[in-house]
Amino acid sequence: MSKKFYIETYGCQMNVSDTELVISILKSSGFIFTKNIDETDIIFVNTCSVRANAETRVFGRLEFFKHKKKTKKHLLIGVLGCMAERLKNKLLEEDKLIDLVVGPDAYRDLPKLISNLGNGQQAINVLLSREETYADISPIRLSENKITAFVSIMRGCNNMCSFCIVPFVRGRERSRDFNSILKEIKDLIKNGYKEVTLLGQNVDKYNWKNEVNFSQLLEMVAKINSKFRIRFSTSYPQDMTDEVLKVMKKYDNICKYIHLPVQSGSSEVLKNMRRGYTREIYLDRIKAIKKIIPDCAISTDLIAGFCGETEENHKETLNLITKLEFDFSYMFKYSERPNTYAHKYLKDDITKEIKSRRLTEIIDLQNAISKKNNQKYENKIFEVLVEGFSKKSKDYFFGRNSQNKVIVFKKESSKIGDFVNVFIEHSSIATLIGKIVN
Ligand code: SAH
Ligand code: F3S
Repeated sequence: MSKKFYIETYGCQMNVSDTELVISILKSSGFIFTKNIDETDIIFVNTCSVRANAETRVFGRLEFFKHKKKTKKHLLIGVLGCMAERLKNKLLEEDKLIDLVVGPDAYRDLPKLISNLGNGQQAINVLLSREETYADISPIRLSENKITAFVSIMRGCNNMCSFCIVPFVRGRERSRDFNSILKEIKDLIKNGYKEVTLLGQNVDKYNWKNEVNFSQLLEMVAKINSKFRIRFSTSYPQDMTDEVLKVMKKYDNICKYIHLPVQSGSSEVLKNMRRGYTREIYLDRIKAIKKIIPDCAISTDLIAGFCGETEENHKETLNLITKLEFDFSYMFKYSERPNTYAHKYLKDDITKEIKSRRLTEIIDLQNAISKKNNQKYENKIFEVLVEGFSKKSKDYFFGRNSQNKVIVFKKESSKIGDFVNVFIEHSSIATLIGKIVN
């Protein structure tokens, strides 16, 4: 009888995209995908290692899964993704209730590995690859709305920022064949999808055999269908070229939104982070965005309390936030990760209390700016792609404008997947509220 599998996903959009590949690989080998944890034969957890608290959450879930196994002896538990890659055999040795450990480049091996299980046998494949991009596999989409989708255009990262574990757990940077990317997007359009987000740790490094770079890929995707929206993530400050910005400007269907992680406003800290750019270079890139695409929204990532960060350095971060007025920020406390450069050579010397206080200052400042920023959208009309029902009421839909702002409005006669024009009446830190106009 065919085995059923269930899968939970933690971490970034890339993990969501990988889960869609895993579902596809297993389904084509005869496994049955279920969203009901109580009827499954196998529980997978696709994991994140980027900060310690991400791992703590997964360990908590594993305890819960193991508890289920006590009443259901044949249940199998598999750990996938970044924690599988980081902890490898240790996961199996320290926990006999875990059956399977598979890293991000070994998902093709899953059906074979599962067939080797049973009778207390465990299985593992954590080999990283220089070539694997899963280019030929059509993901089984998880998105409920069937309107927006992720497409991975590359895997891994070569940047080696000193705080970051990603290069260790996701391997070397490699780009996916552009033909397979274009084909996947054309299929999405045929199936009624209206928006794609192209994914990579550093999309500006996309390079297919020196024939196609990121700006060229972006242009090819934009030309497929002028009503089909394109987003991408993540851009890297000194790799983001003016060519990319010009292509964004040229095509209305490329969304006017860039996520450009800065991490710190201090050149000194950036040097210790091995980011390869200074505060000035970052400011110059922001200037280029604003010059070429004046209506572009910009968001960022910030880390509070990195090794050696002085009060002065922290103030430079606050000052940068004030100066640039980011539309949105993902804000974190520094969390030391094993084997990284920072773990080996720098001292995690900022106390928990100071990290928390600095993070709170960053969050409070960003929230005030987000609130003020969102007020600028009031009394204006934006084209919104309807993505689904608002959390609060079935009479309301939500969607996003080109600038990636979440907008809530009364349904009227619109449907999910429509483009509608919405007049913004109110705003808060996170949302804009409006009504459909013709
Ligand atoms: N280029 C990648 C970055 C992945 S990690 C991408 O965005 O796709 C995402 C963010 O997590 C980073 O930008 C950084 O702000 C944060 N981060 C990474 N390692 C961290 C650590 N050790 N402690 C705290 N935050 C970290
Ligand atoms: Fe990590 Fe820096 Fe790459 S943050 S994912 S090493 S760009």
